[in-house]
Amino acid sequence: MIQITTKSVEETKEFGAELAKVVNPGDLILLCGDLGAGKTSFTQGFGLALGATCPITSPTFTLANCYEGDLVINHLDVYRLTHIEETRDLGLHELIDDQSVTLIEWGDVIAGALPCGYLEIRFNLGETSEERNVHLQIVGSEWEDRIESIEAIKEKMC
Ligand SMILES: Nc1ncnc2c1ncn2[C@@H]1O[C@H](COP(=O)(O)OP(=O)(O)OP(=O)(O)O)[C@@H](O)[C@H]1O
Ligand SMILES: [Mg+2]
Repeated sequence: MIQITTKSVEETKEFGAELAKVVNPGDLILLCGDLGAGKTSFTQGFGLALGATCPITSPTFTLANCYEGDLVINHLDVYRLTHIEETRDLGLHELIDDQSVTLIEWGDVIAGALPCGYLEIRFNLGETSEERNVHLQIVGSEWEDRIESIEAIKEKMC
């Protein structure tokens, strides 16, 4: 488990931009944490760094948005899913391919139904309204070769 603290929304976006530099095609990232924790803000920094020109907005009502950048960025929000069986309808097997990277807000809700390993990023409110404690956990083998790169991001952001 790696922990990073961000002290502003800009820092959370910067962290997203740094993580975008170590992403591989086909990667899956789960974004967890309460309403307003910073999941979409992170994705905005991440997408901008990958050259997405359209502004990234919350997909809470659309369930899934797709942005063209250096890679295709699939941005999902599964907050409204009520049954894990509904995960099938998301078509994750087709979505997660070697042209794209996929980020799922509230992804822990469907963790048991995912087709591959992932990086889980959990945002917790910090001591002040502008602070977030961010915990990163690698699940499965896909992200294992990036542990050192993520540690380096932590060092850079301290
Ligand atoms: N350090 C911080 N990191 C991220 N957001 C912060 C931080 N400090 C304050 N904020 C504010 O918290 C809010 C985060 O909103 P955001 O939409 O990113 O959350 P979310 O986790 O996607 O919420 P939801 O579950 O509703 O989709 C923004 O209004 C942002 O300005
Ligand atoms: Mg959001």
